[in-house]
Amino acid sequence: MNIAIIGSGYVGLVAAAAFAEIGHNVTCVDNDASKVEALNRGETLIHERFLPELLARHRGERLVFTQNIQEAIRSSSVIFIAVGTPSSENGEADLSLVENVACAIARNINSHKIIVEKSTVPVCTSQWICRVMMQNGAPGDMFDVVCNPEFLREGTAVTDFLYPHRIVIGADSTQAADTLRKIYMPLADGSYAKLSKAIPQPDNAIVPTRLIVTSAESAEVIKHASNAFLAMKISFINAVANVCENVGADVEEVCRGIGSDARIGTEFLKPGIGYGGSCFPKDLTAFRSVSCDSGYDFRLLDEVRRINEDQRHRFLRKVRQALWNLRGKRLAVLGLSYKGGTDDIRESPAIAMIHLLLKEGCDIVAYDPAAMERAKEEFPNGEVEFSAYLYDTAVNADAVLILTDWEEFASLDLPRLRKAMKNPIIVDGRNLYRPETMNNSGFTYYSIGRRQRVARRLVQRSNTAA
Ligand code: UDX
Repeated sequence: MNIAIIGSGYVGLVAAAAFAEIGHNVTCVDNDASKVEALNRGETLIHERFLPELLARHRGERLVFTQNIQEAIRSSSVIFIAVGTPSSENGEADLSLVENVACAIARNINSHKIIVEKSTVPVCTSQWICRVMMQNGAPGDMFDVVCNPEFLREGTAVTDFLYPHRIVIGADSTQAADTLRKIYMPLADGSYAKLSKAIPQPDNAIVPTRLIVTSAESAEVIKHASNAFLAMKISFINAVANVCENVGADVEEVCRGIGSDARIGTEFLKPGIGYGGSCFPKDLTAFRSVSCDSGYDFRLLDEVRRINEDQRHRFLRKVRQALWNLRGKRLAVLGLSYKGGTDDIRESPAIAMIHLLLKEGCDIVAYDPAAMERAKEEFPNGEVEFSAYLYDTAVNADAVLILTDWEEFASLDLPRLRKAMKNPIIVDGRNLYRPETMNNSGFTYYSIGRRQRVARRLVQRSNTAA
């Protein structure tokens, strides 16, 4: 099938590469000339596992990148809109880019088109797209609008796309739903997974996957409600972690206990310094706003957000508890991206923490395996020192702060780290270690929802002094 994808951001680029991988001819459009040139030169633009392989396989063959939206619209029967929908000042999603694309499709319509919302959009956007299409001269029988939300996570976006837990098609026309079914057939019937060149399946893959057909409005709500629910789960466990700290319980043990109830599940129960990224914060605000406009005051979502923001201030208090005065203290920060496996720093709790620590007068030296270049743009005036090597950050540090759950940070060479530091103190915002491991390696270790553990060496010294 000839498919156009408008927008080459995280969702658009991964969708374009993955649709080419399952056999379609894809034209991926972006109005940013430098991005299109870079993609055509063979660059990947984002740090995403398996994306370089897919682009190398299909670029220039089944996958082309262009700025020419008119040509892409004319030559495709299905057009996916994957442009940005940022939060506007009042919390609503700014849909002006979606509207621009709808206008462009209407003006260039030359045959029947299926317009698919892939960007996360508030409920009723499909009706607005229909209206804009007709206002711009597209006859009503020349197009259908479908909502096909994307659930991919950054870092595992390619495998999430090729081995989804479900595919949701929100269509009010049977023909449009059938076309989408055909597009996804290699994933829905499991035939893609059987190919010898298929990208390897993740452990928890569901093959063949479920295809859920709903109304367009239901599909729009499914996307917002999924992200809001996941964000709520994270804030819930963070709140439980705070209770654990107060009563001397261990949140990791509590997670094991509650997560083994299949109705609750173990996923998205990792406590930490809160969620970030381009989706949860934005979608939560947009869903709150849509609910309010519809006449329902969804205050639970305010509390989810409040707990999330409070986690950062609680973490700052922990750092203070570890170091007393913060002014002039040298802190080694491990992690800048909003989670491990990505170079994305949008709404990153790690970046927010650094801003708070800079305000306190700390000296920050930071390391991240992928997000350093992007983070340098966030601190253009030398406020933060960046280190090309992980262990160099620890030299003379008063403490190491773990702010992102990169795999590499979960297997540190602890003796080497301790040797480099001024004080063997680790404040872990992602609970990557067992407190006993840290203590046995001579660290005083602070984490989330567990008792603070003072290193044996320091305890002995204070016992002797007493
Ligand atoms: C999310 C949704 O998972 C995905 O379905 C949707 O399409 C886009 O938004 P993403 O933002 O890529 O994906 O990352 P995700 O893995 O969901 O993590 C989001 C944030 O929550 C990160 O900051 C992560 O560190 C945090 N998180 C996640 C926790 O703090 N605890 C957890 O248990 C899980």
